[in-house]
Amino acid sequence: MEQLQFKKNEWIVEQTSLKKIAQKVGTPTYVYSLSTIEKNYFEIDQAYQSIPHLIAYAMKANSNLTIVQTLAKLGAGADVVSGGEIFKAIKAGIPPKKIIFSGVGKLAEEIKYAIQMKIRIFNVESIEEILLLDKMAQQFKQYVSIAIRFNPDVDAHTHHYISTGKRENKFGIDLNNLNEIIKVVRNSKHLKWNGVHAHIGSQMTQTRSLTRAAQILSKLVSQLRGEAFPIQTVNLGGGYGIQYKEQVPKISSYANPIVQLLKDQNVDIIVEPGRYIVGNAGVLLTRISYVKKKLNKIFYIVDAGMTDLIRPALYGAYHQITALDKSQKSQQRVDIVGPICESADFLAQNRAMPVLKSGDLLVVFSAGAYGSSMASNYNVRPYACEVAVRKKMWKIVRKRQTWNDLIQNEIQWIKK
Ligand SMILES: Cc1ncc(COP(=O)(O)O)c(C=O)c1O
Repeated sequence: MEQLQFKKNEWIVEQTSLKKIAQKVGTPTYVYSLSTIEKNYFEIDQAYQSIPHLIAYAMKANSNLTIVQTLAKLGAGADVVSGGEIFKAIKAGIPPKKIIFSGVGKLAEEIKYAIQMKIRIFNVESIEEILLLDKMAQQFKQYVSIAIRFNPDVDAHTHHYISTGKRENKFGIDLNNLNEIIKVVRNSKHLKWNGVHAHIGSQMTQTRSLTRAAQILSKLVSQLRGEAFPIQTVNLGGGYGIQYKEQVPKISSYANPIVQLLKDQNVDIIVEPGRYIVGNAGVLLTRISYVKKKLNKIFYIVDAGMTDLIRPALYGAYHQITALDKSQKSQQRVDIVGPICESADFLAQNRAMPVLKSGDLLVVFSAGAYGSSMASNYNVRPYACEVAVRKKMWKIVRKRQTWNDLIQNEIQWIKK
């Protein structure tokens, strides 16, 4: 994040001291730079400027209302995967006409809500979903726009848990089933098939897979128009990589081949970036509770764990971590671990870090995407506080949960 700088012996986000935030609100706390979110959005907007396009922010990356509001103000749409995300998108000011509903397991009640809200388009992922959607559209006397999410069998060359465009993945409909899909949609009464969609994976660190997916979709556009379906939108999903450790391509390197391919096809492009917009716009502040030496290992036991940031435990993901106070120069190899009762509960393993003590603060970089949105209450731990920064101003945009919050929905059947 360009907005995260070490200045005058302090880590600063925009113009706000991280230390001050930690002192005021405690830890663990997520801190987001709104200017960085805006800058990332504009970069994508710029890359696709020569073709009509909609940036539908993938809310799964981070659905904090202030973040979504910030993007809504810039004209973003939303890519959603649940009724809850539709609800939050609308609450944050995203117009329903810019909401794209993806997901392999849309529930009937979620479809009903989406139809009633008159969202822009459903990315449908199975024949059964097409049949259900047609039935429900008929029930609510509406015509509903659909894009078929195809599975192009393209390897995104990313971690296999976030690869979604290979045939064996649960996502999308096989290209081999095209004739059957054509038949089913033709027989439908209330569906308008006007888009094609593919999202082949997240954190792609090369561009050729996305170009390959675009080539496949581009061919489908011609083929389906030949079958009299008025295909107007090509949705290439998200997946742009961000720098956790190694360098990644510029957004324009992903976008240029796609724009070249599609610019003469008279289509609108939809993109669904999540990670690229918020990933590097957020950090996680955590404090060392204990330093523990065991066998030949040193553990920094911190107050953030896999319940706050599950990426290291889930994917072995790397996050750069630095001490908030850079005065200590001598280094040692340590495991940075959380308080959760799982050995997978680590933020870093065998990492060179300064010699630190309990009470010291750490900054976990690139934690804006798939951090707070994947948090859990495991071990009855409250969700972390979230703070947004705009220059010198900052605000809590999600209060730390309290222990009372954690039992709100529980009913004590046994009377005391
Ligand atoms: C359908 C769809 N679109 C967009 C995204 C966002 O991906 P990213 O955050 O990598 O841009 C995802 C992520 O899984 C997705 O499943």
